[in-house]
Amino acid sequence: MGLLKDLFGKKSTEPFDLSAIQIDMHSHLIPNIDDGAQSMDETIGMLLRFVELGYKKVITTPHVMSDYYKNTPDIIRSGLEKVRDEVERLNIPIEIDAAAEYFYDEFLIDKVNKKELLTFGDNYVLFEFSFSAAPNNMYDLIFAMLQNNYKPVLAHYERYLYFAEDGVKKVQDLKNRGVLIQMNLNSLSGHYGKMVKKQAEMLVDNELVDFVGTDCHRMDHLNLLSSALHLEYFHKLKNLNLLNSKI
Ligand SMILES: [Fe+2]
Repeated sequence: MGLLKDLFGKKSTEPFDLSAIQIDMHSHLIPNIDDGAQSMDETIGMLLRFVELGYKKVITTPHVMSDYYKNTPDIIRSGLEKVRDEVERLNIPIEIDAAAEYFYDEFLIDKVNKKELLTFGDNYVLFEFSFSAAPNNMYDLIFAMLQNNYKPVLAHYERYLYFAEDGVKKVQDLKNRGVLIQMNLNSLSGHYGKMVKKQAEMLVDNELVDFVGTDCHRMDHLNLLSSALHLEYFHKLKNLNLLNSKI
């Protein structure tokens, strides 16, 4: 009995190997253009940590918000070039690309219809809602994205607690309408609170997750993630048909 307990105990404390994810598609690593990295040193430090964790590529996604972060494709691309130059100069074995995380506000549909969005992989667009209030007319936005051949990926679904009472139904409805679901890995660590953790576990249990992301803004996020990888739910990620490695 003791032996079995030891064996199982050992198994459950083994950290999940993030190298299986291969590509991270949600982070804030371009210095000084949003609330993520605030210097090139910070950016490089985080990229080295991504390498240690087993990632081979990161697609970083600066915030685009009409009020706070007026990032254009040009601003993002020129920031990316500077990071790439530094990665090359220092010989860091990781590939870096950029898209954006679009906040749903009244100006976003216009950008969609003008086809001005930065995408990753197969025309995927990462977008987010407010945390405080359920979005109005979100189906118009989703419809406009699909009409323009974008593949919408909703960032950290589990953090929109106003959807929580609808359980699986709401997320299933969004998926039926063509929205892909991204979950933050640190939601499973409990970083955003118990309710968010519960929602994340619901997504994993029902195999509703299409992409996972670190949503890394600073080194703390990667350190926390690294320390939580022994948790059971990280091991359950193996049951999901994640698209991360296919982009
Ligand atoms: Fe983000």
